[in-house]
Amino acid sequence: MFGVVENLNWMDALRARLGEAVSTDAEVLSVHAHDETEDLRFPPQAVVRARSREDVVATMEVAHAYGVPVTAAGARTGLSGGALAVKGGIALSLKGMDRVVEVDLANHQVRVQPGVIVQELQERVQRDGLFYAVDPASRGTCTIGGNLAENSGGPRAVKYGVTKDWVLNLEVVLADGQVIRTGADTLKNSTGYNLTQLMVGSEGTLGVITEATLKLLPWPRHNALMLVPFASADAACAAVAAIFQAGVQPSALEFMERDAVRLAQDFTGDHSLEVGEDVAAHLLIEVDGFRPEELMPQVEALLPVLEGAGAGEPLFADDAAAKDRLWFLRRRVGEAVKAASVYKEEDTVVPRGRLPELLRAVKEIGGRYGFRSVCYGHAGDGNLHVNILRDAMPQEAWDEELPQAIRELFAEVVRLGGTLSGEHGIGWVQKPYIDLAFSAAQLELMRGVKRVFDPKGLLNPGKIWPD
Ligand code: LAC
Ligand code: ZN
Repeated sequence: MFGVVENLNWMDALRARLGEAVSTDAEVLSVHAHDETEDLRFPPQAVVRARSREDVVATMEVAHAYGVPVTAAGARTGLSGGALAVKGGIALSLKGMDRVVEVDLANHQVRVQPGVIVQELQERVQRDGLFYAVDPASRGTCTIGGNLAENSGGPRAVKYGVTKDWVLNLEVVLADGQVIRTGADTLKNSTGYNLTQLMVGSEGTLGVITEATLKLLPWPRHNALMLVPFASADAACAAVAAIFQAGVQPSALEFMERDAVRLAQDFTGDHSLEVGEDVAAHLLIEVDGFRPEELMPQVEALLPVLEGAGAGEPLFADDAAAKDRLWFLRRRVGEAVKAASVYKEEDTVVPRGRLPELLRAVKEIGGRYGFRSVCYGHAGDGNLHVNILRDAMPQEAWDEELPQAIRELFAEVVRLGGTLSGEHGIGWVQKPYIDLAFSAAQLELMRGVKRVFDPKGLLNPGKIWPD
């Protein structure tokens, strides 16, 4: 077992084990000081750019021996500060471990390293007629490791589920450098505790994932996409549950308030979509299938429901380019809001039938506290991204009153049967509110799990729970 080396501090010990994979260059530290969460900056003391599982093992052995915090990071596209080294120490970048190790055609599985970019994985398996279903808005840049850590979702989750639904087995480096596999590469597994699912969504607090076996599907290569305007945001939200009640299972069902579309148009410079004066919100609805003839029955079932819900005339994307344009606009909303104002984003989620109540609560609380919100998200999952814009709000109100407003919002979310985050994680920014989601007994169980996996509290410290 590796131990403290006499007369060697942790940084030197790290360099002795990892050589040029270690960087303390000011610019490298600065890059790793931020992700996509607000304007947070937490520079680590060292960055390790792991090239292999052995590099991760060496990092954990040194960290364990010397008591140094380790925060794993992928592409740092996260929205809860999960990849930030808030207690200093080592930022462990897995980005260089970016190999698709094996596409197993016989079993519809793929083994990947954590640094693989999600879109590249999707495109790689599509060449074999296969489909990796999880599709976050940042798929062009985010990595599988980050998706596993935060249990990421995205627009297709409404039909295909989130990251956890596609994970069969993980290779994990534990806090002391031991390597385990969490399960088996099988579709079924009733053998012991489910360490695989415990690891997914644990935000880098229990171990470092160095390889994942993921499930694939045959690629449903046909789809139809429509953008549906509503004169009332409330009516758009109410239409969501009605769509499922009519027996339709969309492959995406997204909600965008008028301002979300407007900001994305300004941000992308693409104003080709005309939004009528009376449009308050849109639903972006996709249905998919393996054969073209599977689409029309779904669209035909949808249209009367939309009409009954008070929708305006749907705009159908006629070809691949039109579909790409609509999805491009939708995927850019997050960045557009960020570019428009200082903001805070809440990743609220409720049972989807309660979406209208959630939206009303957001607006009511905003009215009382005097903030503007731009809401959009995965309506089919009841997952509403609530972006609170600073605009002209005085600094004092922003710092002192807004946390109280957010607390009220989350309390309402919980009252509606929902919870604090649907897909972005708790990380750093939502941890002051975790008591709203869990009882003392629940929190104590989770802290107990943390102690078993990480007795020295070195893995991504300062996340999920207040200190
Ligand atoms: C999205 C990200 C913010 O849905 O989750 O665009
Ligand atoms: Zn989202």
